[in-house]
Amino acid sequence: MRGLLTVKALAAIRQVADCARAAAVRRDLIMAGTGFTPRSMSVVSAQKLPVDCGMGDIYGSKWTHGLLAAVTGQRPQEVRHSVEWGVANFLEARGDTHGAHRDDYPIAFVLIVRAPNIGGEVLYSPTNSDELSGVLSLAAGDAYAMRADRILHAVAPVSDGTRAALVFAYNFAGNEVQITPSASMLYE
Ligand SMILES: [Fe+2]
Repeated sequence: MRGLLTVKALAAIRQVADCARAAAVRRDLIMAGTGFTPRSMSVVSAQKLPVDCGMGDIYGSKWTHGLLAAVTGQRPQEVRHSVEWGVANFLEARGDTHGAHRDDYPIAFVLIVRAPNIGGEVLYSPTNSDELSGVLSLAAGDAYAMRADRILHAVAPVSDGTRAALVFAYNFAGNEVQITPSASMLYE
């Protein structure tokens, strides 16, 4: 969804991201549960933020729910998992990357708050395989929704600039989710 956020909306969402950045912590680890892929970035889960940061307002808004219902054809269900419902990721240093993985929950809704000058593309598998042949270059104010429990995805290393993203997870009615430890290892 290119240019989804208006200038005004992007400014408001940047305030949310800046609030999240103040509480973010550095992670440099290899995630065994996702095929030993790297996580090099600063992160925070929304549960660790003051309510007035506004992550919950975005998550629960009619705008977000309506948008995701239109995109997926199903009514999105909010996730009660304390870590996974909302997170913020900041790829800031040269080489920062979010290695290949699948999410626990089916819908990932990602708002691109800041985009780097070089690198930081979304890599994904359009064929539902383990090959990351899809490349999506995104600008600040863009957004995407992904069937993130099925599609292998990653964020390419950042070479110059900062990539800041707010990530929200939703479920579908009746869909049973197996919670893996990966998200808790990264965000707790
Ligand atoms: Fe993901």
